[in-house]
Amino acid sequence: MEELKQRILKDGIVLNNSVIKVDKFLNHQLDITLLDNIGSEFYHHFMDQEITKILTIEASGIAVATLTALYFNVPVVFARKSESITHPEDKYSADVYSFTHEKQFNIFVSREYLKPGDKILVIDDFLANGQALLGMARIVHEAGATLVGAGIVIEKSFQDGGKLVRDAGINVFSLARIKNMSDSGITFL
Ligand code: G4P
Repeated sequence: MEELKQRILKDGIVLNNSVIKVDKFLNHQLDITLLDNIGSEFYHHFMDQEITKILTIEASGIAVATLTALYFNVPVVFARKSESITHPEDKYSADVYSFTHEKQFNIFVSREYLKPGDKILVIDDFLANGQALLGMARIVHEAGATLVGAGIVIEKSFQDGGKLVRDAGINVFSLARIKNMSDSGITFL
């Protein structure tokens, strides 16, 4: 998505060779017009798939998932994160290891909000190591729902997640795929 790539080049701050800060439009301040256009891109890609729900993960996925859901006219469910090891019976849950935070999270969704027969589109802001997406895929599977695909705003293609999730059979559609980045610039696939 050209508009997004240009915005990353303009406002993205490369913190080191593996982390990019996009607080100006995606992770802290939200550019709603850009997010609306992103929602439209996801809609046009997945519009024929009879999506019944959008699933994301708190916190940064929620805004982009919400604007996307307006196009599909379906609810957004966001997986919640807890560090608790208690898994109440009425929740689907998955353990997710974050390489960035070097920490294990438990993510969960109430059974009330995912049902067999649901056709789920996962939306998230970043695809890095793929663990969050794989965790959400496990939750969808546990619910007996169908994971139609995943719409990702920024994929860091130099990290392992993209290959991992595609090898797992997930239909991933990323709007900007960063090939590499450094102080001297960002290149896209
Ligand atoms: P993974 O989900 O793909 O395995 O990635 P990882 O655990 O490494 O990512 C941990 C968190 O860091 C995620 O947010 C992810 O969105 C974010 N992240 C990963 N790479 C980048 C990056 O280069 N730039 C920025 N800005 N974020 C990145 P989170 O911990 O769930 O936090 P949040 O959603 O509450 O913001």
